[in-house]
Amino acid sequence: MDRAAITGWGHCVPPSVITNDDLASVMDTSDEWITSRSGIKERRISHVENSDMAVVAGSRALAAAGLEPDDIDFLIVATCTGDRQIPSTACLVQAKLGTTKAAAVDINAGCTGFVYGLNIANGVIAAGTARRVLLIGVEKISAYLDFDERSTAVLFGDGAGAVVLEPALGDEGIRSMTVGSDGTLADALTATGAGTEYIGRPEPLRIVMDGREIFRNAVVQMGEAALRAVKDADLDLADVDLLIPHQANIRIIDSIVRRLDLDESKVFTNLHRYGNTSAASIPIALSEALDEGRIAPGSVVLLVAFGAGLTWGATAIRWGDRVEPLGQSDAELPPTELTGLELLIDEQRKKKAEDRARASVL
Ligand code: UT7
Repeated sequence: MDRAAITGWGHCVPPSVITNDDLASVMDTSDEWITSRSGIKERRISHVENSDMAVVAGSRALAAAGLEPDDIDFLIVATCTGDRQIPSTACLVQAKLGTTKAAAVDINAGCTGFVYGLNIANGVIAAGTARRVLLIGVEKISAYLDFDERSTAVLFGDGAGAVVLEPALGDEGIRSMTVGSDGTLADALTATGAGTEYIGRPEPLRIVMDGREIFRNAVVQMGEAALRAVKDADLDLADVDLLIPHQANIRIIDSIVRRLDLDESKVFTNLHRYGNTSAASIPIALSEALDEGRIAPGSVVLLVAFGAGLTWGATAIRWGDRVEPLGQSDAELPPTELTGLELLIDEQRKKKAEDRARASVL
């Protein structure tokens, strides 16, 4: 049975930045609070849709793998903020990217979506039902932020990351995979205002979270999943060359690193620049880690995630010989003159108007 290996990678973050000080100018918060509680300094706000960011990230991953869109036979988009409810964002991406021979599907496992996607990609490649999989994690989570909900509005940002997976040639590839969920804790991290449950109800579109409950569960489940992934790969923690955790909160990451007793030099973080980009966080970090030379031929890379559901997952990957992209894509997002703050204020204005209109007819 073939095992899947990552042969291409890329990411796309929108250009408009919003800093902690920008947020403090429109809500009751401060750079000091956000930095000390989460480690986040700034994040990106998208002026385009999820599918547009996904296409750029996907094009870059294809170029890095030396492939054309038509080489892909299975396209998976991990997202919980897709462009539309129907059809899947994956189908929109398929049309824009021109992967005409690919089956396309979305998966929603919250912030764990990318790791779940790796599991599915590995499975279809092992089963022989697909040879080349494009997996994209993407979120336009800014659409779900609400200035009145300061404990969540400061944590999230937009972006996309992508990988190409193909059958491994040697002993590289996905060496272990562990995923889990606990639906009894669904309400600890949820979005109101979207979905059939909310028809006829006045709740606005926004993320609602029990931060402390999520924090507690994240530390336990990410720690356990990471340990299991290492053990299932017949490795020791000392064999791990780079840990790429879900980029939600530096205090969660520090707790896991202490629990695993890993050297900080073996941990990749970029959440200070992007905040929590949910399903996009690990593929953006993986792509940046490769760009920065943090992964060497044969490196053991440990990915671990946690998110809404609740869901969690981890995978140990042995990298192949190639850590350089085979090619570069010239795909870019259209430019925008708008700042992150201007985009977010405009989005909030539209949402408040929709909320008022909805409340008035109920
Ligand atoms: O991918 C998974 C996604 N979710 C997460 O990873 C979230 C996990 N949880 C967390 O990251 C943390 O729980 C938070 C960063 C959300 C909050 O940190 P905390 O240390 O658990 O703070 P807290 O919720 O206990 O709130 C402490 C205080 C409260 O004030 P009082 O009641 O003590 O007076 C909050 O009202 O901080 C206040 N607060 C804020 N103050 C300034 C909450 N949000 C803010 C804010 N600015 N943005």
